Amino acid sequence: MKFFVDSADLNAIAELADIGLVDGVTTNPSIIAKSGRDFKEVVKDICKLTEGHVSAEVVAMNADQMVEEGRILRKIADNVCVKLPLTMDGLKACNVLSREGTPTNVTLCFSANQALLAAKCGATYISPFIGRLDDLSLDGMELIEDIHTIYDNYGFETEILAASIRNANHVKECALVGADVMTAPPNVIKALSNHALTDKGLAAFMKDWEKTGQSI
Ligand code: E4P
Repeated sequence: MKFFVDSADLNAIAELADIGLVDGVTTNPSIIAKSGRDFKEVVKDICKLTEGHVSAEVVAMNADQMVEEGRILRKIADNVCVKLPLTMDGLKACNVLSREGTPTNVTLCFSANQALLAAKCGATYISPFIGRLDDLSLDGMELIEDIHTIYDNYGFETEILAASIRNANHVKECALVGADVMTAPPNVIKALSNHALTDKGLAAFMKDWEKTGQSI
């Protein structure tokens, strides 16, 4: 499973990239607003931190303008992936941009039928939002499984990018149901390494090692 970082925090992305945990990055208008930086400049900076796709979202509501914005965003760097909302206009823009060879990420997906439409329009990625479904007591993992089955049934190449990941359990469940990619905030990715027994075991090993008086 590929790991994307759901953030525009350059330091946090760089830190995870140094460890080898960054296969790409996702942003959305809320993440960009939180960065307080110029959209195109921050996307350009993020694109230097990874060779993987960096999703940058259009903000137009109609297809023609989305295509125009997508073409502008695409020029920022070779690894920009144009993110489009799952509306009829977003799907139409996805179809145009995909045919031009632009990587696309169709976002705000909450149903299997929406995912089917995105695949038919040539999306590189479909982004089902797990956490926001959980917020409504709905089952995000069941959605990922359904999309997986539908894409397998017809050989669609669109990758399932599990988004709105809020905790370590979401990551494990996405891996178990075979999501191609998951995108999560840096703190969630970092928390994956935590286990109380690892800390306890390491402390005991270090204490015993000190007793040997040796060094490596
Ligand atoms: C990423 O592509 C999504 O925009 C993001 O994961 C949404 O996360 P949220 O539901 O926590 O805002």
